[in-house]
Amino acid sequence: MKRISLTQYLVEQQRRQGHITPQLRLLIEVVARSCKQIAISVSKGALGDVLGSAETENVQGEMQKKLDIIANEVLIEANEWGGHLAAMASEEMEGIYVVPNRFPQGEYLLLFDPLDGSSNIDVNASIGTIFSVLKKPDGSAGEAVAEADFLQPGTGQAAAGYCIYGPQTMLVLTVGNGVAMFTLDREQGAWTLTHDGLKIPADTKEFAINMSNQRHWAPPVQRYIAECLAGTTGPRGKDFNMRWIASMVADVHRILTRGGVFLYPWDRREPEKAGKLRLMYEANPMSLIIEQACGAATNGRQRILDIVPGRLHERVSVILGSKNEVERATTYHTDAA
Ligand code: AHG
Ligand code: MN
Ligand code: MN
Repeated sequence: MKRISLTQYLVEQQRRQGHITPQLRLLIEVVARSCKQIAISVSKGALGDVLGSAETENVQGEMQKKLDIIANEVLIEANEWGGHLAAMASEEMEGIYVVPNRFPQGEYLLLFDPLDGSSNIDVNASIGTIFSVLKKPDGSAGEAVAEADFLQPGTGQAAAGYCIYGPQTMLVLTVGNGVAMFTLDREQGAWTLTHDGLKIPADTKEFAINMSNQRHWAPPVQRYIAECLAGTTGPRGKDFNMRWIASMVADVHRILTRGGVFLYPWDRREPEKAGKLRLMYEANPMSLIIEQACGAATNGRQRILDIVPGRLHERVSVILGSKNEVERATTYHTDAA
């Protein structure tokens, strides 16, 4: 079988389809190269002294792991000099990181969750990196880039993707023209296209939610999950299976591969927060990927990609995956309103 590399895929997207610009192609290649470097650190584990806590807190008030910081630094260093970016934003940094003056400024903005699923690092379970690419708004050329430039709805993403560090290291990408998966060939150090045009089945019998939060959920989520759990004896008339990896990347990857529905809803533990997951570098890129694979993603009331962010680190309630299940769970919310 003829192998297609990430570079070849991107050149074709640029040349034939007109989906990406040369600058965006460079950006994606640099992010993919960063993920390769992060994958090397991840796989070294204790041998590379990368496990455990860094004993520092990020802006979200979460303890940082060593790998959260390593991955963040890898992405910043790799992306700041190429001339393809104006600024970056990350889960691990409070403010935006403007490309230093000594480098040329590009037209794109890059957002990332450098290391997703931090609680899985030390137990050797799958983790990932999530990224989202926006364009610096028109009319702001020449002006200093500001946090406000990032506050665009997810529909404006020029590209989105994630890398999963699992039994295989894979890069999953959309440039708005379907979803492609690349597997890292470790001997050659090359990303090779292994799936293209991914489609999530509209129906599923598998849900993913952190069940330990059940008593804190709102009634629509209680209803939806109770009906799944009732299986053949309930209104759904079929048995459901459950999975929860606690890495959004790994849960989304399973859903892309065989269908399913993922929920991280608002709950009563911290009622002032819309949810646990962050809109701009977790929910938005994943929602674009899921929609591009014929799935759906809402916050229970509206399409996630339509939300206009008010803040860089804004949180959001998330329901995503197989279309018919997402629609059902969303209807339970809108009916209850
Ligand atoms: P992060 O490691 O980037 O902070 O994200 C963790 C997120 C997400 O990956 C996962 O779905 C969820 O948090 C797990 O939450 P629980 O610990 O509540 O299961
Ligand atoms: Mn995360
Ligand atoms: Mn993270």
